Amino acid sequence: IMDGNGRWAKRRGLPRTAGHTEGEEALARLVRVAVRRNVGWLTVFGFSTENWTRPRAEVRHIVGLHKKLFGRVAELNELNVKVQWMGRPFDTPEARTPKFVQRAIRKAIADTANNTGMVLTVAFDYGSRAEIARAAKHARRASIASASGAVAGAITPHQLGAHLYDPNLPPVDVLVRTSGETRISNFMLWQSAGARVYFTDCSWPDFGAAEIDEAIALARPRSA
Ligand code: IPE
Ligand code: IPE
Ligand code: MG
Repeated sequence: IMDGNGRWAKRRGLPRTAGHTEGEEALARLVRVAVRRNVGWLTVFGFSTENWTRPRAEVRHIVGLHKKLFGRVAELNELNVKVQWMGRPFDTPEARTPKFVQRAIRKAIADTANNTGMVLTVAFDYGSRAEIARAAKHARRASIASASGAVAGAITPHQLGAHLYDPNLPPVDVLVRTSGETRISNFMLWQSAGARVYFTDCSWPDFGAAEIDEAIALARPRSA
């Protein structure tokens, strides 16, 4: 959960947008480090379903930075990183991802599809509650359609999990939240069951190798 961009900027007497710009650079740097550390899956919260209520200029800036992020195809290919996206599906009425970002997302996914290294999943227009509610709806539909269970429409955790935005994402090993917030966000609530949690006072733009190493240490006990 890449938090604290605004506060990072404020401390420096800069506009919040400068914090977001630096945050995007921090992510590009961190992807490099994560690849070197053999991280298999890195999933980042880029923009939430709630973040659309922020001032328009700030939203526009952050949205533009996601176009830039998904445009880093050459770098990602050099690192053998496969890019994915998760959020409210583009063809649903509630979805808010602008067309020009949709295009960048589709292109980045296609252009990195053959990479076999780390999977980088960017959550944009993402909310965990929306994801779970939708998964429940789809799992229930499937259950009614098959009607083979004892109770048509009854769903198991396994069936719900199969209808998340990306059912192939493994369970979260370590949930990282930056910027001194010791709260859970609306991020991967289902997938985080049993996850270790790493809270750090470090703001996202300053999150680097030292911090990710501490987080990784939680995931991989020293004996391993
Ligand atoms: C995280 O930083 C970036 C997004 C939520 C898009 P914030 O913008 O939340 O920064 P703070 O929490 O106000 O410092
Ligand atoms: C979390 O930060 C969302 C993202 C990092 C995209 P926010 O600052 O938006 O959200 P909460 O309300 O503190 O969880
Ligand atoms: Mg915040």
